Amino acid sequence: MKTWRVLLLGFGTVGQGVAERLRDGAAELAAVGLDVRVVGVVDPALGSIARAAGLDPGRLLEMMAQEGSLRAYPDTTPVAGGTEAIESIEADIVFEMTPTNLVDGGPGLHHVRSALDAGRHVATTNKGPVALAWAELSELARARGVQLRCEGTVMSGTPLLNVFEGGLVGAGVHSVRGILNGTCNFILSRMEEGLEYDEALAEAQQLGYAETNPSGDVEGWDAAAKVAILGNIVLGGALTLSDVAREGIVGIGKGDVRGAAEQGTRLRLVGSVRTVNGAVVEPKVGVEELPFDDPLAAVRGPGNLLTFDTEALGPVSIAGPGAGRAATGHALIADLLAIHRQVGL
Ligand code: HSE
Repeated sequence: MKTWRVLLLGFGTVGQGVAERLRDGAAELAAVGLDVRVVGVVDPALGSIARAAGLDPGRLLEMMAQEGSLRAYPDTTPVAGGTEAIESIEADIVFEMTPTNLVDGGPGLHHVRSALDAGRHVATTNKGPVALAWAELSELARARGVQLRCEGTVMSGTPLLNVFEGGLVGAGVHSVRGILNGTCNFILSRMEEGLEYDEALAEAQQLGYAETNPSGDVEGWDAAAKVAILGNIVLGGALTLSDVAREGIVGIGKGDVRGAAEQGTRLRLVGSVRTVNGAVVEPKVGVEELPFDDPLAAVRGPGNLLTFDTEALGPVSIAGPGAGRAATGHALIADLLAIHRQVGL
């Protein structure tokens, strides 16, 4: 059994999702030789605490449910913030789960850089660092002999990047194409059922698919970040967000959706990127009019689907959730397991 000391940065939806998975999945993880010990949690709003002997995930969740804060967890040491925690807490891996900031990477970029520099493995669900600074961060990880993994940045915990790495390297993946933003797909699906754009957006917000400020979703930023990440990790590029041509669904009306249906098509926000002669080209996100029998047209509601086009296998598609507490929380566990299998046995 190998004990992994984990520092959690962020204890919002994703952090609590991880705690749930650690609480409920401990036996499954133990069966593959993995013992996970949470040695610190940092969340400016909810409390930042460290405990070398380990924090019980179930207790963390109970405290959130009962008190809405972690500060009164017994026998803990308070921590000032993410950077201090990375420097002072003896952890093997950092789970970086602060909210995505696609403007300058926000605290997440600083956290990832600091953690790698300190020789910690990193698993992150934060799209900012990976979409904005992949070339720098992957090189830093390589130089320090640690891993940077980000399964949860694209299609949440639906296995995608780990599937690529586990079984598609060498298959000659030459393009990826998919529905990468659940909010936009939900809105377009609901408009097909007769809702106006604003009504569908409000529903997406109520159901928790869209961000509080949904412009990142409906203007295509979120999907564009995912295209940059896929272009870098799957196709070996060095893209940043600004390289991705971007169009959102703002301005699409019920009439457009109905008009497409009359033509036997559906409107979908599609992200794609491909290689030509080894160069990564045409990273883009845009609204496409797809025939009903296109697999992407069949994706309804908040679902996601990605197709890898490969030389060896032809198209290989993976469908699954692109958001959600447990789904995204699982991504960190999958990344930890991948690291455990590579370096921890
Ligand atoms: N808001 C995103 C979506 C969630 O709707 O797909 C995760 O990136």
